[in-house]
Amino acid sequence: MNTVIVGTQWGDEGKGKIIDILSAKVDYIVRYQGGSNAGHTVVVDGKEYIFHLIPSGILHPGKICCIGNGVVIDPESLVKEIEGLAALGINIDGRLKISGSAHVILPYHKILDKLREGKRTHRIGTTGRGIGPCYSDKINRCGIRVIDLLNPAVLKNKLKDNLKEKNEIFKKVYNHPGYSFNSLYQEYLRYGDILSGRVSDIALLLNQACRRKKDILFEGAQGTFLDIDFGTYPFVTSSSATAGGACIGTGISPDKLDKIIGVTKAYTTRVGEGPFPTEFSLEFGNLIRGKGNEFGATTGRPRRCGWFDGVMVKGAIMLNGITDMAVMKLDVLDGLKSIKICTGYKYRGKVFKDFPADFTVLTKALPVYKEVPGWQGPINHIRRYKDLPPGVRNYLSFLSDFLGVSFSILSVGSYRSETIFV
Ligand code: GDP
Ligand code: IMO
Ligand code: MG
Repeated sequence: MNTVIVGTQWGDEGKGKIIDILSAKVDYIVRYQGGSNAGHTVVVDGKEYIFHLIPSGILHPGKICCIGNGVVIDPESLVKEIEGLAALGINIDGRLKISGSAHVILPYHKILDKLREGKRTHRIGTTGRGIGPCYSDKINRCGIRVIDLLNPAVLKNKLKDNLKEKNEIFKKVYNHPGYSFNSLYQEYLRYGDILSGRVSDIALLLNQACRRKKDILFEGAQGTFLDIDFGTYPFVTSSSATAGGACIGTGISPDKLDKIIGVTKAYTTRVGEGPFPTEFSLEFGNLIRGKGNEFGATTGRPRRCGWFDGVMVKGAIMLNGITDMAVMKLDVLDGLKSIKICTGYKYRGKVFKDFPADFTVLTKALPVYKEVPGWQGPINHIRRYKDLPPGVRNYLSFLSDFLGVSFSILSVGSYRSETIFV
């Protein structure tokens, strides 16, 4: 059985926790897009781990974790994560495999990311990890891939070509001194040396695993509305964060995907700029941010918070072919008198029931809300659906009916045990 885990909102839905839990039942866990802009949190025995590039299943001994061709790899960040796990005594020998076709993030991508932001009238609020510039090079066919780090002659030519053009841009457009070839060349050859033992043909490996009836979990990063095509463009990331990305980013054909699980937060959050129709007022936003500890796992930035947006999530279910869902962070809503759910957007007398592509509508529309009673907490000790307070069950049953999908996992805390399987 091959399962894709995908975020249904603007990322940070709690994918890390779900991947960690479901990893126990599979053989392979694969990242297929994004890079170290992702921050996936796993809490085990009270200890918090945050993964940026390494799949969130790595804490399960014996599981094979892969980074697919669709990911952009910052070797500095990856090596730091590998060393971090080693320091904790977590053995990943032979268990972490990296696609040679994945593109590599270089220091000039990270600097360019920040310099470009500085020049925009409307900043995106990127993570500054070089994601956009690296994917741009991939599409421009001048990118450097992991496999190139293992071939000094190829790396030399590609890096020289890149620096020839990029240093001109750095100097003339950004008044930045640019980069010298030698130090970058030596540094990236060294990364090639460190990573060489992990470089594999991931497409071949996974297709062979499918033939042997092994189970694969595809770990999405970011979320549907950060997708380069379907997100709130231009306030998006630069990869295909929707379920289709699992095929492009690994070399597994669409017919081999059996199940798509959507991960959704019981409310909505967003880091960075861009439209957010159901965003809370400042004061209430601060309250929920505090209760949910809504600070970015990668950049530490405060996350913007708002009510659950049913229009968005309905769109995500359609775009990803979601068959069932995990609803996260229900405990954060404990103690509220009432809870709102956005069921449509009103703009110039018209009610939109489907997520609008038009940026003006999304920015100016007023949410139409359904209000339901809240519940008293705490609920984080509850392990069976039927033991949840009527207010929680009522909220979930409204959501499930509205979205037309069933919920198989409910999360009431960050620990593995704080989970209800329905
Ligand atoms: P991801 O990017 O989708 O993996 O999500 P993040 O790890 O960036 O953010 C989710 C945060 O919520 C992490 O700090 C998790 O430990 C935490 N978390 C996950 N599930 C729950 C839950 O049910 N309740 C609470 N209170 N926290 C949760
Ligand atoms: P996970 O996998 C939340 C946001 C950034 C910014 C936009 C573009 O943890 O859910 P980028 O650096 O990708 O060019 O930034 O996307 N963003 C995320 N927001 N969770 C993430 O990942 C994100 N990855 C990128 O804040 O608004
Ligand atoms: Mg995150």
